[in-house]
Amino acid sequence: AAVGVLVVRNKMMSSGKWSKVMDLLNEFEEKCGTPTSQLSQVAEAMRVEMDAGLAAEGGSKLKMLITYVDNLPTGDEKGLFYALDLGGTNFRVLRALLGGKEKGIVKRESEELSIPPHLMVGNSRALFDFMASALAKFIATEGEDIELPPGRQRELGFTFSFPIRQISIASGTLIKWSKGFSIEDTVGEDVVTKLTNAMGRIGLDVRVSALINDTVGTLAKGRYSNPDVIAAVILGTGTNAAYVERASAIPKLQDLLPKSGEMVINMEWGNFLSSHLPLTEYDQSLDADSLNPGEQIYEKLISGMYLGEIVRRVLYRMAKEAALFGDIVPPKLKIPFIIRSQDMSAMHHDMSSDLEVVDKRLKNILEITESSLKIRRLVVKVCDIVATRGARLAASGIFAIVKKLGRDAVEDGEKLQKSVIAVDGALFEHYTKFRNCLESTLQELLGEAYKNISVELSNDGSGIGAALLAASHSQYLDLEEP
Ligand code: GLC
Repeated sequence: AAVGVLVVRNKMMSSGKWSKVMDLLNEFEEKCGTPTSQLSQVAEAMRVEMDAGLAAEGGSKLKMLITYVDNLPTGDEKGLFYALDLGGTNFRVLRALLGGKEKGIVKRESEELSIPPHLMVGNSRALFDFMASALAKFIATEGEDIELPPGRQRELGFTFSFPIRQISIASGTLIKWSKGFSIEDTVGEDVVTKLTNAMGRIGLDVRVSALINDTVGTLAKGRYSNPDVIAAVILGTGTNAAYVERASAIPKLQDLLPKSGEMVINMEWGNFLSSHLPLTEYDQSLDADSLNPGEQIYEKLISGMYLGEIVRRVLYRMAKEAALFGDIVPPKLKIPFIIRSQDMSAMHHDMSSDLEVVDKRLKNILEITESSLKIRRLVVKVCDIVATRGARLAASGIFAIVKKLGRDAVEDGEKLQKSVIAVDGALFEHYTKFRNCLESTLQELLGEAYKNISVELSNDGSGIGAALLAASHSQYLDLEEP
């Protein structure tokens, strides 16, 4: 009988704790809610901020940066061009042989390196030396078949995926770091000068012909392959968008009047902020502990760098306050960023009846030896809440761009033009539930107009796009035959 009493008491305790877990879950789910009406408000707020950012420098949290890209690739780009791509976690060097309208991209070779973490928070010189030497190695080992026309300097497109203030296509000063980077002595400096100096130190003679953001590269590459592309979105480590705006809608251009009448705008939408965003205490503490508190709030709700970390914070609180994983909090669960978005995605997509994948990840990452099916289901649910909120918010951002460009009309007498949004980034490419949710939410927001809009995966814009823009801004352009 004594044993029986003990068992009953244990059960009672655990059910009490479980109900506390459920309370925390329900509260979290409620706060993360994104009903259609709220998403429309988010989109409307973003549209208003877009106008404010276009009106004046510093007019909004949305920087709406002028990129000096006033012409997108046409397909005529020809020759050998290089690209350097510094984005989130990886760094790439690329070489592309462009063959004009007939041949397209004849050859493309690249190398990817992961950026040593200490370089992300060290000093400028170490980071730029690292990039320059990777490029030098890449060039030194290229085959005999790679040939530049005699007397020509190598040319490069530099994809630097952080907010940059530009005054020309081939220069720009860093406004702020984002994602996992924080190197004080780069802020306010021209990153093309930094790269050119680093190359000079090792005797590497390469001209930077274009400095671009990854969104701009994705837009360039998207347009190169499909003339209906009007905007590009990155859903990767960070998130951001760029689109083609009419020059007449950009008061802050002032005297700068592009011949084409258009200008690509890098929105830096990751920094969007609005009272309509569904922020929870977990987001607030994540932000407070981040490298850039108060900045990139929209990005912190959506992008790959943060989704897994939000999940960790929710589970941590459940472990601490409701003994989700037993009486002690698993020590690994205390480590920031230990749950990566890839892990979250794997758990979220676990289709096995006993959620084996979830079990394995909990074991491998958090060293949780035993987890009941109930607990595994709860973990999946937390992933679902976090991913759904992120995907729905990203969809409302795309909706804002479509509305801003008046592409949300259902009919206007004539046949409506198709609008394509080129999207790149691992979150969109590999996190199927995220992508599906983004697409269905966009449909929900656009209604019938959805038939003219499509969101398409466009890989490697930050590499090929940079090479294409280096080509269209080559110093030898006038020498080419017409
Ligand atoms: C961050 C950067 C932005 C970049 C985005 C996606 O938001 O600030 O420039 O485009 O990440 O990589």
